[in-house]
Amino acid sequence: TSEQFMKKPTNEPILEYKKGSKEREALEKALEEFANKTTDVPLRIGTEKITRNLDKNQVMPFDHKKVLARYTYATADDIKHAIEVGLAARGKWERLPLKQRVEIFLKAADLCAGKYRMALNATTMLGQGKNIVQAEIDAACELIDFFRFNSYFALQLEKYEPISTESSKNSLVYRGLEGFVAAIAPFNFTAIGGNLSGAPAIIGNVVLWKPSDTAVLSNYIIYQILEEAGLPPGIISFLPADGPTFGNTVCSNSNLAAINFTGSVPTFEYIWRKVAENLGNYTTFPKLIGECGGKNFHFVHPSADLTSVVIGTLRSAYEYQGQKCSACSRLFIPESLWPKFLEEFSKLHKEIKVGSVQDGSIFMSAVIDDKAFARIKAYIDHAKSGADGAKVILGGTYDDSVGYFVQPTLIRVTDFKSKLLTEEIFGPVLSAYVYPDAEAETLVTKIKDATKFGLTGAVFSQDKVFLQKATDILRDATGNLYLNDKSTGSVVGQQPFGGARKSGTNDKAGGPHYLLRFASPLTIKETF
Ligand code: ALA
Repeated sequence: TSEQFMKKPTNEPILEYKKGSKEREALEKALEEFANKTTDVPLRIGTEKITRNLDKNQVMPFDHKKVLARYTYATADDIKHAIEVGLAARGKWERLPLKQRVEIFLKAADLCAGKYRMALNATTMLGQGKNIVQAEIDAACELIDFFRFNSYFALQLEKYEPISTESSKNSLVYRGLEGFVAAIAPFNFTAIGGNLSGAPAIIGNVVLWKPSDTAVLSNYIIYQILEEAGLPPGIISFLPADGPTFGNTVCSNSNLAAINFTGSVPTFEYIWRKVAENLGNYTTFPKLIGECGGKNFHFVHPSADLTSVVIGTLRSAYEYQGQKCSACSRLFIPESLWPKFLEEFSKLHKEIKVGSVQDGSIFMSAVIDDKAFARIKAYIDHAKSGADGAKVILGGTYDDSVGYFVQPTLIRVTDFKSKLLTEEIFGPVLSAYVYPDAEAETLVTKIKDATKFGLTGAVFSQDKVFLQKATDILRDATGNLYLNDKSTGSVVGQQPFGGARKSGTNDKAGGPHYLLRFASPLTIKETF
């Protein structure tokens, strides 16, 4: 119950799916079920389920002839209709006591943890190309954590009571925003779709949720879970759509109250410009909450523990094919450690199994789609051409005949300004820059401003003084900084997540302050 959740929740335990276990059997059944059919995903507006056309396909990235789901793009009229339906439902929803909304999200969390865990995992694996472990920590654990921790954080907001006096009573009411919230979700974390739409809704907002084309099915399962948990019709509309049609329609509507976005920097910049163009038309100042790209680094000091560098870097760079926004794509390593690093890294690299997600033993699968494949391939080809003093050391091959497969790739780069060290690749490509040991501190200062991004970074060093110095130098250069740990794997409630600089508005999803972005507090003073 919500009373229980006034206590801080604990993170959802990660299931292991050992061979022969009950959960492994259940997952395999779900995988088989979803892999052997094509699921139709409707648009959802109020009580309507719209299945007109169904002319868009979500395919399986590792076997792109297989269609996992069919869906329809919402038209501008559908989107406008969803705004009307949302606004009509808003008054009642926004006035509900917070605890009643929280109950719905806590129930949804339980449904994710139990009845729908395998469906969430299976559709994330098949549709977005995650292996079991990567799906479980995302589509199960992180999603459940978002619902539970947001419930807790929302209830905390209401705990503060303004000071009242003998002659006046003061109170704060956390209203939802006036208007509607547009949630634009990415493909790479199923949980993020649930948070982008769920966090504003828990505060009393109505939401238009545009899932990524390549994550439609897993996101729709979340939508159905919320519905089963008691979310009333109209509060969240589910609208797969063409990006510009969706963006332009919501941005040109006078009731736009916020955009909750995860995706690329250029798209977020496009949204800011659209909002600026329409500024005079809005009832409020729309809030723009964005989580964008990164060019995340691992900086290795000569004193570092090599084993944690090797394992941490391999995991950060290649898990989920390097498609986590937090993935390491730049490695700075001293000359003294490079030969041993390469030896150890190569050993593990050789063992990496790349294949279909239905093979339970793979470490990596395919990248998300043809566009990603072409982009990543172009960076690898750039390195193969020897540009910028680059040399492919490991991997470097790709094949899209069956699925969008790119082998894990390590490139050594000698030109500090190479685009391999400055541009976001969003694939399993790691660029290593080897530096003279004596220049460690100088180099940290140099990487501080080497890119426009500021998402994640890691410093590996056994020298505590150096760690402190590096933390200070890098103060503005990341949103999430890891000391002696890899740059990926933030956990809700443990490491609130968000990037500085062009990596986003740094509102820290999975932290206590995120929800305030979706509230419009009302102060009431009543004098006796
Ligand atoms: N929670 C994700 C990570 O840190 C974004 O990798």
